[in-house]
Amino acid sequence: MTLFKTPESRIVQDPRWLQPLSSPPGGRPQGREPYLKHMATLLSDVFTTGKGRNLFILGKPGTGKTVCVRFLLQELQRHAEQEEIPLAAVYVNAGKTRTPYYTLLKIVQNLGVDVPPSGWQMFRLKHAFEAVTQETPVVVVIDEVETLLRKEKEPLVYYLNRQPHTTLILVSNKIEDAADLPDSALSTLQPQPIGLTPYTPDEAKAILRERVRNALHPQALSDHLLEIVAEFAAKAEDIRLGFSIIRQAAHTAEQHGRRTIHPDDVKTAFKSETRLIQLRDILENQSAIEQLRRRR
Ligand SMILES: Nc1ncnc2c1ncn2[C@@H]1O[C@H](COP(=O)(O)OP(=O)(O)OP(=O)(O)O)[C@@H](O)[C@H]1O
Ligand SMILES: [Mg+2]
Repeated sequence: MTLFKTPESRIVQDPRWLQPLSSPPGGRPQGREPYLKHMATLLSDVFTTGKGRNLFILGKPGTGKTVCVRFLLQELQRHAEQEEIPLAAVYVNAGKTRTPYYTLLKIVQNLGVDVPPSGWQMFRLKHAFEAVTQETPVVVVIDEVETLLRKEKEPLVYYLNRQPHTTLILVSNKIEDAADLPDSALSTLQPQPIGLTPYTPDEAKAILRERVRNALHPQALSDHLLEIVAEFAAKAEDIRLGFSIIRQAAHTAEQHGRRTIHPDDVKTAFKSETRLIQLRDILENQSAIEQLRRRR
C-alpha cells in the first residue's frame, strides 16, 4: 500500500480554494467594486500623463487588500495593452523582501531587468529602475510596506516617488503607520488613503459561498452553517477565519466518513481556533453559538 493514497473524498472537491493565499475562483474580488472603481479613477492619469495619484491602501488583516491590488494591477495591464499605451505594473511584498535593497532588487527584476541575485549595488539597481522609467510609466505596488517605513530615515518609497513617471500604491494592515508618517513624507508622497472596512456578514457569506461552491461537493455544507461561519468571520473582521473554519470542519466530517458537514464539525473547528478564544467569550450567549446548540 502506498503511504499517501487517500480514499476519494466525499466532502472536498478541490481544497485549493480554501487556502489562505488562494485567488478568488472567478478572478474578481467580490463586493469590493466601489473601492476598485475609486482606485481606478485615482490612477487613471497614468494613461495620459504617465503618473497617477499615489495610493495608501489600509485595512485590517484579511480585508482583501492584497487580492484587490493584484486585481487592479491586472486591469491596469489589460487596459494598457488594449489601448496600446506603454505601462509597466509591478507588485512586491516588502514583508517578504524585508530590506530596501531586496525590495528594489525585486522591483527591478519584475520590470524585466536581468539582475543577478547578488552583486549589484544599490546605485546600480536605482540606475536600472531609472532607465525603465525613462521609457515607460511604472506603477509599483509595495504590499506590507510597514516593513520599509519603520526601517529607515529615508525610505525607499521616497526615492521611488521622486522618479518621474512613477506611481506608488502602498499597502499596509498597520493603520497607525499611516498616521505616524511624518508630515514631510505625507507632503511629498501625497498619498490618497483608502481604508478597506472589514466585511459585513453578508459580504463574508458571498465570498465564502463562492469558495465553497468550488472547494466542496454540492450539499456538503448547508446554507445555514455557511451563514454561521460567515457571521463569525465578519465578527473576527478577517475573512481568512471563515476559510480556516470550513477547511477544518470539512476535514473532521471526512474523518467521520460523512457526506455532509455537521454543526458539531463546525463547532469543533471554532473551538480549535485560538483567534476565536476572546470572541467566543463575547459570543458565548449570542446567536451563532446558540444556533449551533439548538441544532444538536
Ligand atoms: N473580496 C474578496 N473576494 C474574494 N476573495 C477574497 C476577497 N477578499 C479576500 N479574499 C480572499 O481572502 C484571503 C485574504 O485576503 P487578502 O490576502 O487580500 O487579505 P489582506 O487584507 O491582504 O490581509 P493581510 O493584511 O493579512 O495581508 C485571500 O485568499 C483572498 O483571495
Ligand atoms: Mg495582504
